Amino acid sequence: MRFLENESLKPYNTFGLDVKARHFVEIESEKELVHFLLNHEWAKKPLLPLGGGSNILLTKDFEGTVIKLSLNGKRIIKEDNDFVKVAISAGENWHEFVLWAIRQNFGGVENLSLIPGNIGTAPIQNIGAYGVELKDVFVSLSAVEIESGQVHYFTHEACEFGYRDSVFKRANKGKFIITEVTLQLTKQNHQLKMSYGAIQDQLKVDSVSEPTIQDISNAVIAIRQSKLPDPKEIGNSGSFFKNPVISNGQFAELKSKFPDVASYPNGQDHTKVAAGWLIEKAGFKGLKRGAIGVHEKQALVLVNYGGGEGKELKALSSEIQEKVKEIFGISLEAEVNIL
Ligand code: EPU
Repeated sequence: MRFLENESLKPYNTFGLDVKARHFVEIESEKELVHFLLNHEWAKKPLLPLGGGSNILLTKDFEGTVIKLSLNGKRIIKEDNDFVKVAISAGENWHEFVLWAIRQNFGGVENLSLIPGNIGTAPIQNIGAYGVELKDVFVSLSAVEIESGQVHYFTHEACEFGYRDSVFKRANKGKFIITEVTLQLTKQNHQLKMSYGAIQDQLKVDSVSEPTIQDISNAVIAIRQSKLPDPKEIGNSGSFFKNPVISNGQFAELKSKFPDVASYPNGQDHTKVAAGWLIEKAGFKGLKRGAIGVHEKQALVLVNYGGGEGKELKALSSEIQEKVKEIFGISLEAEVNIL
Protein backbone atom coordinates (compact mmCIF):
# COMPACT_ATOMS: atom_id res chain seq x y z
CA MET A 1 0.00 0.00 0.00
CA ARG A 2 1.21 3.46 -0.86
CA PHE A 3 -0.26 6.58 0.75
CA LEU A 4 0.09 10.04 -0.81
CA GLU A 5 -1.44 13.46 -0.20
CA ASN A 6 -2.36 16.17 -2.72
CA GLU A 7 -1.38 13.87 -5.54
CA SER A 8 -1.86 15.04 -9.14
CA LEU A 9 -4.23 12.72 -11.01
CA LYS A 10 -2.83 13.72 -14.40
CA PRO A 11 -1.04 10.40 -15.01
CA TYR A 12 -4.11 8.47 -13.87
CA ASN A 13 -6.80 9.72 -16.28
CA THR A 14 -6.71 9.36 -20.05
CA PHE A 15 -8.05 12.90 -20.58
CA GLY A 16 -4.76 13.98 -18.93
CA LEU A 17 -6.59 16.43 -16.65
CA ASP A 18 -4.43 17.94 -13.97
CA VAL A 19 -6.55 17.86 -10.82
CA LYS A 20 -5.43 16.75 -7.37
CA ALA A 21 -6.63 14.10 -4.96
CA ARG A 22 -6.54 15.14 -1.29
CA HIS A 23 -5.67 11.55 -0.36
CA PHE A 24 -4.40 8.83 -2.66
CA VAL A 25 -3.84 5.20 -1.80
CA GLU A 26 -2.49 2.53 -4.10
CA ILE A 27 -3.77 -0.98 -3.41
CA GLU A 28 -2.12 -4.16 -4.64
CA SER A 29 -4.31 -6.99 -3.38
CA GLU A 30 -7.85 -7.77 -2.31
CA LYS A 31 -6.59 -8.36 1.21
CA GLU A 32 -5.01 -4.91 1.31
CA LEU A 33 -8.23 -3.40 0.02
CA VAL A 34 -10.36 -5.02 2.71
CA HIS A 35 -7.85 -4.02 5.38
CA PHE A 36 -7.81 -0.43 4.14
CA LEU A 37 -11.59 -0.14 3.95
CA LEU A 38 -12.14 -1.52 7.45
CA ASN A 39 -9.29 0.15 9.27
CA HIS A 40 -7.99 3.31 7.71
CA GLU A 41 -9.29 6.79 8.52
CA TRP A 42 -8.96 7.79 4.85
CA ALA A 43 -11.58 5.15 4.02
CA LYS A 44 -14.16 7.30 5.81
CA LYS A 45 -13.79 10.15 3.27
CA PRO A 46 -15.62 10.17 -0.09
CA LEU A 47 -13.95 7.45 -2.16
CA LEU A 48 -13.04 7.33 -5.82
CA PRO A 49 -11.86 3.89 -6.98
CA LEU A 50 -9.73 4.28 -10.08
CA GLY A 51 -8.74 1.67 -12.63
CA GLY A 52 -7.20 2.84 -15.88
CA GLY A 53 -8.94 6.25 -15.62
CA SER A 54 -10.25 5.85 -19.16
CA ASN A 55 -13.90 6.61 -18.53
CA ILE A 56 -13.82 9.59 -16.25
CA LEU A 57 -13.98 13.37 -16.64
CA LEU A 58 -12.47 15.11 -13.61
CA THR A 59 -13.82 18.65 -13.38
CA LYS A 60 -12.29 19.60 -10.02
CA ASP A 61 -9.91 18.51 -7.27
CA PHE A 62 -11.14 15.42 -5.42
CA GLU A 63 -11.43 16.18 -1.73
CA GLY A 64 -11.69 12.56 -0.61
CA THR A 65 -9.54 9.48 -1.21
CA VAL A 66 -8.64 8.08 -4.61
CA ILE A 67 -8.08 4.32 -4.46
CA LYS A 68 -5.77 3.37 -7.28
CA LEU A 69 -6.37 -0.30 -8.00
CA SER A 70 -3.10 -1.97 -8.91
CA LEU A 71 -4.03 -5.62 -8.29
CA ASN A 72 -2.15 -7.73 -10.80
CA GLY A 73 -2.04 -11.31 -12.02
CA LYS A 74 -4.10 -13.85 -13.90
CA ARG A 75 -4.66 -17.57 -13.55
CA ILE A 76 -6.34 -20.29 -15.52
CA ILE A 77 -8.95 -21.78 -13.26
CA LYS A 78 -10.44 -24.41 -15.58
CA GLU A 79 -9.86 -25.74 -19.06
CA ASP A 80 -10.78 -28.55 -21.42
CA ASN A 81 -10.18 -29.06 -25.13
CA ASP A 82 -12.64 -26.35 -26.14
CA PHE A 83 -12.74 -23.68 -23.46
CA VAL A 84 -10.60 -21.97 -20.86
CA LYS A 85 -11.67 -19.93 -17.87
CA VAL A 86 -9.25 -17.22 -16.81
CA ALA A 87 -9.50 -15.17 -13.62
CA ILE A 88 -7.83 -11.80 -14.03
CA SER A 89 -7.03 -9.24 -11.34
CA ALA A 90 -8.70 -5.85 -11.61
CA GLY A 91 -5.53 -3.82 -12.18
CA GLU A 92 -4.41 -5.70 -15.29
CA ASN A 93 -4.49 -3.57 -18.44
CA TRP A 94 -7.32 -4.65 -20.74
CA HIS A 95 -5.42 -4.51 -24.02
CA GLU A 96 -2.36 -6.29 -22.58
CA PHE A 97 -4.73 -9.06 -21.53
CA VAL A 98 -6.23 -9.24 -25.05
CA LEU A 99 -2.75 -9.53 -26.56
CA TRP A 100 -1.86 -12.27 -24.06
CA ALA A 101 -5.07 -14.17 -24.91
CA ILE A 102 -4.29 -14.01 -28.64
CA ARG A 103 -0.74 -15.28 -28.04
CA GLN A 104 -2.23 -18.30 -26.26
CA ASN A 105 -4.71 -18.71 -29.17
CA PHE A 106 -7.62 -18.03 -26.77
CA GLY A 107 -10.53 -16.52 -28.72
CA GLY A 108 -13.39 -14.20 -27.81
CA VAL A 109 -11.81 -10.85 -26.99
CA GLU A 110 -10.03 -10.08 -30.28
CA ASN A 111 -12.72 -7.57 -31.36
CA LEU A 112 -12.11 -5.72 -28.10
CA SER A 113 -8.45 -5.00 -28.93
CA LEU A 114 -6.99 -1.63 -28.01
CA ILE A 115 -9.80 -0.54 -25.70
CA PRO A 116 -8.18 1.62 -23.01
CA GLY A 117 -8.70 0.84 -19.33
CA ASN A 118 -8.27 -2.04 -16.94
CA ILE A 119 -9.93 -5.41 -16.37
CA GLY A 120 -11.73 -4.30 -13.20
CA THR A 121 -13.67 -1.49 -14.81
CA ALA A 122 -14.54 -3.36 -18.01
CA PRO A 123 -17.70 -4.95 -16.53
CA ILE A 124 -19.02 -1.69 -15.07
CA GLN A 125 -19.80 -0.29 -18.48
CA ASN A 126 -19.81 -3.63 -20.31
CA ILE A 127 -17.15 -2.47 -22.77
CA GLY A 128 -17.90 -3.23 -26.38
CA ALA A 129 -16.71 -2.76 -29.94
CA TYR A 130 -17.22 -4.23 -33.41
CA GLY A 131 -20.10 -6.53 -32.50
CA VAL A 132 -18.70 -7.94 -29.25
CA GLU A 133 -19.35 -6.91 -25.66
CA LEU A 134 -17.62 -8.01 -22.48
CA LYS A 135 -20.81 -9.83 -21.45
CA ASP A 136 -20.25 -12.31 -24.35
CA VAL A 137 -17.19 -13.79 -22.61
CA PHE A 138 -18.00 -12.90 -19.00
CA VAL A 139 -18.47 -15.62 -16.36
CA SER A 140 -18.36 -13.93 -12.93
CA LEU A 141 -16.55 -11.38 -10.80
CA SER A 142 -15.48 -10.78 -7.22
CA ALA A 143 -16.01 -7.41 -5.62
CA VAL A 144 -15.50 -5.95 -2.17
CA GLU A 145 -18.46 -4.18 -0.60
CA ILE A 146 -17.15 -0.78 0.49
CA GLU A 147 -19.42 -0.47 3.52
CA SER A 148 -18.75 -3.89 5.07
CA GLY A 149 -15.42 -4.97 3.55
CA GLN A 150 -17.09 -8.25 2.57
CA VAL A 151 -16.14 -10.03 -0.63
CA HIS A 152 -19.14 -10.73 -2.89
CA TYR A 153 -19.37 -12.96 -5.93
CA PHE A 154 -21.46 -11.80 -8.92
CA THR A 155 -22.70 -14.17 -11.61
CA HIS A 156 -23.37 -13.03 -15.17
CA GLU A 157 -27.05 -12.64 -14.34
CA ALA A 158 -26.37 -10.62 -11.19
CA CYS A 159 -24.39 -8.07 -13.22
CA GLU A 160 -27.51 -7.16 -15.27
CA PHE A 161 -25.48 -6.21 -18.34
CA GLY A 162 -26.92 -3.87 -20.96
CA TYR A 163 -25.51 -1.60 -23.65
CA ARG A 164 -22.61 0.18 -21.87
CA ASP A 165 -24.45 -0.63 -18.67
CA SER A 166 -24.52 -2.94 -15.64
CA VAL A 167 -25.84 -3.10 -12.10
CA PHE A 168 -22.64 -1.27 -11.05
CA LYS A 169 -23.91 1.84 -12.83
CA ARG A 170 -27.36 1.55 -11.27
CA ALA A 171 -28.46 -0.15 -8.01
CA ASN A 172 -24.88 -0.97 -6.93
CA LYS A 173 -23.31 2.29 -8.06
CA GLY A 174 -20.51 3.33 -5.71
CA LYS A 175 -21.09 0.34 -3.43
CA PHE A 176 -18.51 -2.19 -4.64
CA ILE A 177 -14.91 -2.33 -5.82
CA ILE A 178 -14.31 -5.08 -8.37
CA THR A 179 -11.16 -7.06 -7.62
CA GLU A 180 -11.18 -9.98 -10.06
CA VAL A 181 -13.04 -10.88 -13.27
CA THR A 182 -13.41 -14.38 -14.73
CA LEU A 183 -13.83 -14.75 -18.49
CA GLN A 184 -14.41 -17.82 -20.65
CA LEU A 185 -12.51 -17.97 -23.92
CA THR A 186 -12.42 -20.53 -26.73
CA LYS A 187 -9.38 -22.75 -27.39
CA GLN A 188 -10.59 -23.97 -30.78
CA ASN A 189 -13.52 -23.40 -33.16
CA HIS A 190 -13.26 -19.68 -32.46
CA GLN A 191 -16.50 -17.84 -33.19
CA LEU A 192 -15.16 -15.00 -35.31
CA LYS A 193 -17.34 -11.87 -35.39
CA MET A 194 -16.82 -10.11 -38.69
CA SER A 195 -20.21 -8.62 -39.46
CA TYR A 196 -18.96 -5.04 -39.19
CA GLY A 197 -18.23 -3.63 -42.62
CA ALA A 198 -15.15 -1.88 -41.29
CA ILE A 199 -13.61 -5.24 -40.27
CA GLN A 200 -14.36 -6.81 -43.66
CA ASP A 201 -12.89 -3.81 -45.47
CA GLN A 202 -9.73 -3.92 -43.35
CA LEU A 203 -9.28 -7.70 -43.89
CA LYS A 204 -9.45 -7.04 -47.65
CA VAL A 205 -6.81 -4.32 -47.32
CA ASP A 206 -4.67 -6.81 -45.37
CA SER A 207 -5.34 -9.50 -48.05
CA VAL A 208 -6.65 -11.94 -45.45
CA SER A 209 -9.16 -14.48 -46.78
CA GLU A 210 -9.26 -16.97 -43.87
CA PRO A 211 -8.88 -14.81 -40.79
CA THR A 212 -7.49 -15.97 -37.46
CA ILE A 213 -8.16 -14.22 -34.14
CA GLN A 214 -4.81 -12.51 -34.63
CA ASP A 215 -5.96 -11.14 -38.02
CA ILE A 216 -9.19 -9.81 -36.49
CA SER A 217 -7.25 -8.17 -33.68
CA ASN A 218 -4.86 -6.58 -36.19
CA ALA A 219 -7.82 -5.30 -38.23
CA VAL A 220 -9.55 -3.82 -35.17
CA ILE A 221 -6.30 -2.17 -34.08
CA ALA A 222 -5.84 -0.64 -37.55
CA ILE A 223 -9.44 0.65 -37.62
CA ARG A 224 -9.24 2.12 -34.13
CA GLN A 225 -5.88 3.76 -34.83
CA SER A 226 -7.27 5.33 -38.01
CA LYS A 227 -10.07 7.19 -36.24
CA LEU A 228 -9.59 7.20 -32.50
CA PRO A 229 -6.90 9.37 -30.94
CA ASP A 230 -4.25 7.61 -28.83
CA PRO A 231 -4.70 8.88 -25.23
CA LYS A 232 -0.91 8.93 -24.86
CA GLU A 233 -0.80 11.61 -27.55
CA ILE A 234 -4.16 13.41 -27.27
CA GLY A 235 -6.17 13.25 -24.04
CA ASN A 236 -9.54 11.56 -24.55
CA SER A 237 -11.91 9.04 -23.12
CA GLY A 238 -13.16 7.20 -26.21
CA SER A 239 -16.83 7.73 -26.97
CA PHE A 240 -18.02 10.51 -24.70
CA PHE A 241 -21.73 9.75 -25.18
CA LYS A 242 -23.71 6.55 -25.65
CA ASN A 243 -25.40 5.97 -28.97
CA PRO A 244 -29.04 6.90 -28.21
CA VAL A 245 -31.68 4.19 -28.56
CA ILE A 246 -35.02 5.47 -29.86
CA SER A 247 -38.32 3.85 -30.86
CA ASN A 248 -38.75 2.76 -34.48
CA GLY A 249 -41.55 5.34 -34.76
CA GLN A 250 -39.29 8.19 -33.68
CA PHE A 251 -36.59 6.87 -35.97
CA ALA A 252 -38.93 6.82 -38.99
CA GLU A 253 -39.68 10.48 -38.34
CA LEU A 254 -35.96 11.30 -37.99
CA LYS A 255 -35.12 9.42 -41.19
CA SER A 256 -37.80 11.27 -43.15
CA LYS A 257 -36.09 14.56 -42.25
CA PHE A 258 -32.50 13.27 -42.40
CA PRO A 259 -32.38 10.36 -44.88
CA ASP A 260 -28.63 9.75 -44.45
CA VAL A 261 -28.77 9.29 -40.64
CA ALA A 262 -26.39 6.49 -39.51
CA SER A 263 -28.10 3.84 -37.39
CA TYR A 264 -28.13 0.23 -36.27
CA PRO A 265 -31.21 -1.94 -35.53
CA ASN A 266 -31.64 -2.54 -31.80
CA GLY A 267 -34.05 -5.36 -31.06
CA GLN A 268 -37.46 -5.40 -32.76
CA ASP A 269 -38.89 -2.08 -31.64
CA HIS A 270 -35.89 0.22 -31.32
CA THR A 271 -33.10 1.74 -33.36
CA LYS A 272 -29.69 2.86 -32.16
CA VAL A 273 -28.64 6.12 -33.75
CA ALA A 274 -24.93 6.93 -34.28
CA ALA A 275 -24.27 9.79 -31.87
CA GLY A 276 -21.12 10.63 -33.86
CA TRP A 277 -23.32 11.32 -36.89
CA LEU A 278 -25.69 13.55 -34.88
CA ILE A 279 -22.79 15.53 -33.41
CA GLU A 280 -21.12 15.91 -36.79
CA LYS A 281 -24.37 17.13 -38.38
CA ALA A 282 -24.78 19.57 -35.49
CA GLY A 283 -21.50 21.12 -36.63
CA PHE A 284 -19.11 20.14 -33.84
CA LYS A 285 -16.75 17.72 -35.60
CA GLY A 286 -13.17 18.97 -35.53
CA LEU A 287 -14.07 21.94 -33.32
CA LYS A 288 -11.11 23.42 -31.44
CA ARG A 289 -11.78 25.68 -28.49
CA GLY A 290 -8.60 26.62 -26.70
CA ALA A 291 -6.97 23.42 -25.53
CA ILE A 292 -10.07 21.23 -25.93
CA GLY A 293 -12.29 20.14 -28.77
CA VAL A 294 -14.07 17.45 -30.73
CA HIS A 295 -11.93 14.91 -32.58
CA GLU A 296 -11.62 15.61 -36.28
CA LYS A 297 -12.09 11.97 -37.33
CA GLN A 298 -14.78 10.86 -34.82
CA ALA A 299 -17.24 13.42 -33.48
CA LEU A 300 -18.20 11.17 -30.55
CA VAL A 301 -14.77 11.71 -29.00
CA LEU A 302 -14.04 14.88 -27.01
CA VAL A 303 -10.36 15.72 -26.70
CA ASN A 304 -7.91 17.58 -24.51
CA TYR A 305 -5.01 18.72 -26.68
CA GLY A 306 -3.01 19.50 -23.51
CA GLY A 307 -3.63 21.92 -20.69
CA GLY A 308 -7.42 21.86 -21.06
CA GLU A 309 -9.73 21.72 -18.06
CA GLY A 310 -12.44 19.27 -17.13
CA LYS A 311 -14.98 21.99 -16.61
CA GLU A 312 -14.40 23.27 -20.16
CA LEU A 313 -15.00 19.76 -21.49
CA LYS A 314 -18.12 19.47 -19.36
CA ALA A 315 -19.43 22.79 -20.70
CA LEU A 316 -18.74 21.67 -24.28
CA SER A 317 -20.50 18.36 -23.67
CA SER A 318 -23.59 20.22 -22.35
CA GLU A 319 -23.54 22.50 -25.37
CA ILE A 320 -23.43 19.46 -27.68
CA GLN A 321 -26.33 17.85 -25.79
CA GLU A 322 -28.44 21.01 -26.11
CA LYS A 323 -27.74 21.49 -29.80
CA VAL A 324 -28.44 17.83 -30.66
CA LYS A 325 -31.70 18.03 -28.69
CA GLU A 326 -32.67 21.23 -30.48
CA ILE A 327 -31.98 19.91 -33.99
CA PHE A 328 -33.00 16.25 -33.70
CA GLY A 329 -35.13 16.09 -30.54
CA ILE A 330 -32.78 13.41 -29.16
CA SER A 331 -31.17 13.42 -25.70
CA LEU A 332 -27.55 12.27 -25.56
CA GLU A 333 -26.45 10.53 -22.39
CA ALA A 334 -22.80 10.72 -21.34
CA GLU A 335 -20.99 7.38 -21.33
CA VAL A 336 -18.15 8.94 -19.35
CA ASN A 337 -18.50 9.51 -15.59
CA ILE A 338 -18.39 13.22 -14.86
CA LEU A 339 -17.04 14.09 -11.43
N1 EPU B 1 -20.30 8.80 -37.83
C1 EPU B 1 -20.36 10.03 -38.43
N2 EPU B 1 -19.53 11.01 -37.99
C2 EPU B 1 -18.63 10.82 -37.00
C3 EPU B 1 -18.57 9.55 -36.38
C4 EPU B 1 -19.42 8.56 -36.80
O1 EPU B 1 -21.15 10.25 -39.33
O2 EPU B 1 -17.92 11.76 -36.67
C5 EPU B 1 -21.20 7.73 -38.30
C6 EPU B 1 -20.61 6.94 -39.44
O3 EPU B 1 -21.62 6.74 -40.40
C7 EPU B 1 -20.27 5.61 -38.88
C8 EPU B 1 -21.25 5.49 -37.71
O4 EPU B 1 -21.47 6.83 -37.27
O5 EPU B 1 -20.44 4.59 -39.78
C9 EPU B 1 -20.70 4.67 -36.57
O6 EPU B 1 -19.40 5.14 -36.22
P1 EPU B 1 -18.29 4.14 -35.61
O7 EPU B 1 -18.21 2.91 -36.43
O8 EPU B 1 -17.06 4.94 -35.39
O9 EPU B 1 -18.92 3.67 -34.26
P2 EPU B 1 -19.70 4.47 -33.10
O10 EPU B 1 -21.11 4.00 -33.11
O11 EPU B 1 -19.45 5.92 -33.20
C10 EPU B 1 -19.37 2.62 -31.28
C11 EPU B 1 -18.82 2.55 -29.88
C12 EPU B 1 -17.30 2.54 -29.90
C13 EPU B 1 -16.85 1.33 -30.70
C14 EPU B 1 -17.45 1.41 -32.11
C15 EPU B 1 -17.17 0.18 -32.95
C16 EPU B 1 -20.47 3.61 -28.45
C17 EPU B 1 -20.84 4.80 -27.64
N3 EPU B 1 -19.31 3.67 -29.10
O12 EPU B 1 -18.97 3.88 -31.81
O13 EPU B 1 -16.86 2.38 -28.55
O14 EPU B 1 -15.45 1.26 -30.77
O15 EPU B 1 -18.89 1.54 -32.04
O16 EPU B 1 -17.95 -0.88 -32.48
O17 EPU B 1 -21.23 2.64 -28.48
C18 EPU B 1 -16.23 3.61 -26.60
O18 EPU B 1 -17.24 3.15 -26.06
O19 EPU B 1 -15.45 4.38 -26.00
C19 EPU B 1 -15.98 3.28 -28.00
C20 EPU B 1 -14.95 3.81 -28.69
